[in-house]
Amino acid sequence: MTQNLKGKSILLIISGGIAAYKSLELIRLLKKAGCTVRCILTKGGEQFVTPLSVSALCEQEALTEDTYKMDHIHLSRTADAIVIAPASANIIAQIAHGLAQDLATTALLAADKPALIAPAMNHKMWHNPATQANIATLQSRGHTIIGPEEGDMACGERGLGRMSQPEDILKAVLSNIPTFQHSNILKGRKALITSGPTLEPLDPVRFIGNRSSGKQGHAIATALAAHGADVTLVTGPVALPDPLGIKTIHIETAQEMLNACKNALNTKETVDIAVCAAAVSDWSPTKLQDHKIKKRSGKTPPSIALKENPDILKTLSTHKNRPMLVIGFAAETENLAKNAADKLKRKKCDWILANLVGQTGQKTFGEDQNHVYLITSSKTQDWKPMSKTAIAARLSEEIANHFETKAIQDAAE
Ligand code: CTP
Repeated sequence: MTQNLKGKSILLIISGGIAAYKSLELIRLLKKAGCTVRCILTKGGEQFVTPLSVSALCEQEALTEDTYKMDHIHLSRTADAIVIAPASANIIAQIAHGLAQDLATTALLAADKPALIAPAMNHKMWHNPATQANIATLQSRGHTIIGPEEGDMACGERGLGRMSQPEDILKAVLSNIPTFQHSNILKGRKALITSGPTLEPLDPVRFIGNRSSGKQGHAIATALAAHGADVTLVTGPVALPDPLGIKTIHIETAQEMLNACKNALNTKETVDIAVCAAAVSDWSPTKLQDHKIKKRSGKTPPSIALKENPDILKTLSTHKNRPMLVIGFAAETENLAKNAADKLKRKKCDWILANLVGQTGQKTFGEDQNHVYLITSSKTQDWKPMSKTAIAARLSEEIANHFETKAIQDAAE
């Protein structure tokens, strides 16, 4: 399983906390899995483990506030993954607020990828609303939080706040590492991604919408950009920040999403890839009321007449400037394979990522995990449950392979 980590470079940040001793075991496990490990020891971290023991395990000098003189930007950019273990309440607050007060936080602020963060602190500090708000901020920016766990603490109290075991942190690195793989396979390719919900206004204050978080679409945009693609992301309102370095167009309605997508196809440059991950509202009110519809207590509630929205995926699939590879999603409540295969034909797209919704334990909207099947005209592949970032990474690898194979075939003709 750890095969995937061979040759990967990990930047490990050890901040202050008694759990720092467990990070020595984490270094050992990462090295055993074939990684190179660069380690930054914060001033606080140095109180718990020595630079000498860290350097000996990493087989290269530990970076400390006093010894490091080189370019801090280089440190986080060259790593395949950044792990902060243990992450104290203080470093979590610093990252959430964008502070660059020492080598570790400066390297993190200059990073081009999210980090894996393993918090360790007293349980009251963990439950403090300030820490919880900081954690929520970091998650919304795409960072992965591992743990903490419940148990006895060094201070003699008991509760949630112990750092996860090194084996569990290693597993988290494994399941997240594909997100951080960078290549240039899709350099020169243009990709158009739809993401998030659409909101269809009823009057100046009300709308019809859905709970799509945009996590999957945004992750796909990021993963394709990591393979060198020139990505345009068209997104409905979501709580996520715009992905770094990606042209992001904000829309509200299905019609606006369609217009933005058509504009992207109607430029001189060819769009090669389209991925429709948005949860487009199927209907919108036939009439947008100029004023707020009044309740008028006791009167019959108003009925809302709806019209069907344009199908963006189908429009892209049948457009005169159709992207070479058009991919859709299918959320089905039953007969997954058959319904998704029918949808593939009906929407004239090339691939569909299908998932079951509406079952116990299958929420999907807003969740970090999903279980999808890749369905094409010739195959159905079960991708098993994995994180949305891992799905995005796998999809972008499939797309990259598709274009590589095509380039080889074209060259042979
Ligand atoms: N889609 C779209 N425009 C729409 C509706 C859906 O682009 N107006 C895209 C979605 O982004 C997704 C795919 O079509 O990639 C399938 O969406 P889904 O909601 O599963 O299908 P529907 O078209 O709504 O069909 P049904 O309700 O019959 O399942």
